[in-house]
Amino acid sequence: MTGDESDEGTAVRGDRFSGGPARGFLSSLDDDERIFAADVAVDRAHVVMLAEQGIVDAETAGTILQALNVVEVEGHAMLPDGEDVHEAIESAVIEQVGPEGGKMHTARSRNDEVATCIRLRLREDVLEAIEAVCDLRAALVAGAEEHADTVMPGFTHLQHAQPTTVGHYLLSYEQALARDTARLFDAFERVNQSPLGAAAFAGTPFDVDRERTAELLGFDGVLTNSMDASSARDFLVEVASAMANLATTLSGLSEDVVIFANQGYLDLSDDYSSTSSIMPQKKNPDTFELVRSVAGEANSGLTGILTTLKGLPRAYNRDLQNATPHVWDSVDAVTEAVGVAAGGIATATWEEEALAEAAGSNFSTATGVADLLAMEGVPFRTAHELVAKAGESGADYAALDAAAQAVLGESLDTYVEQSAVEAALDPAESVAMRDSVGGPAPGAVAAALEAAEATLTTDTDELESKQGALGDAHTDLMAEVNEYV
Ligand code: ARG
Repeated sequence: MTGDESDEGTAVRGDRFSGGPARGFLSSLDDDERIFAADVAVDRAHVVMLAEQGIVDAETAGTILQALNVVEVEGHAMLPDGEDVHEAIESAVIEQVGPEGGKMHTARSRNDEVATCIRLRLREDVLEAIEAVCDLRAALVAGAEEHADTVMPGFTHLQHAQPTTVGHYLLSYEQALARDTARLFDAFERVNQSPLGAAAFAGTPFDVDRERTAELLGFDGVLTNSMDASSARDFLVEVASAMANLATTLSGLSEDVVIFANQGYLDLSDDYSSTSSIMPQKKNPDTFELVRSVAGEANSGLTGILTTLKGLPRAYNRDLQNATPHVWDSVDAVTEAVGVAAGGIATATWEEEALAEAAGSNFSTATGVADLLAMEGVPFRTAHELVAKAGESGADYAALDAAAQAVLGESLDTYVEQSAVEAALDPAESVAMRDSVGGPAPGAVAAALEAAEATLTTDTDELESKQGALGDAHTDLMAEVNEYV
C-alpha cells in the first residue's frame, strides 16, 4: 500500500495528546537529529528480528524496510512532525506503506528504543574521542622523542624546582592521557550493551530474540533486566565522567602551554595563536585558553546528567530525555579540544636555549646536590640545611664549601670530590643523575618512550578492531535488510 491509499492514521499520533501548548516543550525532535541514523538502524534490526521470529510476515517487513531506506535518504529534516525521532520515523513509514507500517513498533516501546539509539550513537562518539586522544598522545610521544634530552625547568607551586627534560614533561601528559583512554574504553564496554526488547520496562509477550537484535546492531551483549535496561543512564554518567577527567588533563596541559608561551619556552605556531584587535604586537595562546576552558563544558555536562538522574523512580521518566543532550555537548566540546591540543602541540617549537637558561637559574639543581651529599653519607636533612645555606650566598662550589664548614665543620671535599659537586650543579648532569624508573635521565626517558609507544600501539589496535566490528555489524545488518527489500 502506498501513502496515497492510506486513509487513516498517517501519523502515529493523531490522538488528543498530539497538540497543545506544551507540544514544543515535550518534543525532542530537534535534539534527536543526533540519533536519526541510529534510530533507522535500530528500526531495521528490530524489523529483521520480528520477521525472523515470525512476528511480522516477511512481505510486510520488506515494505517497512524499504520505507526505512527512503526515510534514511530523505534525512532527518524531511521527517513529519512528531514528539521525537522515533515517532516521526514511524509516521514517515506509515505515510509510505499505510497502517501496516505500524507493525514496526510491535514488541517494543520508545523507552527501550531511545536507550538503544543513544548507546548506538554514543559508542561511535566515544571511539572518535579515543581516536583524538590517541592522536594527541602520538604528538606528545613525537615531541618527547625529539626532545628527550632537551633540558627544561620543572616546577612545583609554579616555582623553579628541579631541572627535567621536555621529553620527561611531555611523557607525563602522555601517561595521563593513556589513563583517560583506558577510562573511555572502559566506559565503551558498558555503553555497548543492548536494551532493545525491554519494551516500556516490563518486557513483552511476543517471542522476541534480544540476542539477535543485539548481534545485528553490533552490541557486545544484552542488558537483561528489562526495567533496568529501559531506564538506566549510568552509561551517560560514565562517559561524561571520563570526559570530565580528560578535560581536566587537557586543562593542565593548556595551562602549562600558556605559561610556557608567556615565558618564551615554547613558541606556538601562528595557526594555533591569535592576535589582538587593538595591540598589533600581540601573539596570544588563545587556542589553549579555549582548550583549558572546555573543562567548564565537560563538568557542566557531568553535573547536568547526575542532577537530572538523581532521585528518579523506576522505570522510565521523561526527565531522561533531558539528560541526553548533556552528554552530546560534553563529547563534542572535549573531542574537538583534544584535536586542537594535538595540532597545537605537534606544531609548537620548544625554545631550547631559553629552556636551558631557565633550567640553570634559581638554583634548581639544589636537590641534586643535597642528594649527592646524602649518597656520600651525610644525613639528607643535614645536606638539605647545608645546601639551603649555600643557596643564600651564591649557590656555587665556593658557597657550598663555606656552608659545609659551617654545618659539618669540615670542608666539602672530605665527603665528595669537587668535580662531582660541579657536575651536580649542572642542569643536564643533574637530570642524568635521576635515573630511577620513570625519572628524567635519558635512559629512563628512553625506556618510558618505548613503553608509551607500545601502549599507544595496543590502544590504537583495540580502537581499530572496535571500529572495524561496528562497521562489519552495519554491513551485516544491511545484508539482512536486503534479504527483504
Ligand atoms: N524522546 C524520549 C526520550 O528521549 C523517548 C520517548 C519516551 N517517551 C515516553 N513518553 N515514554 O527519552
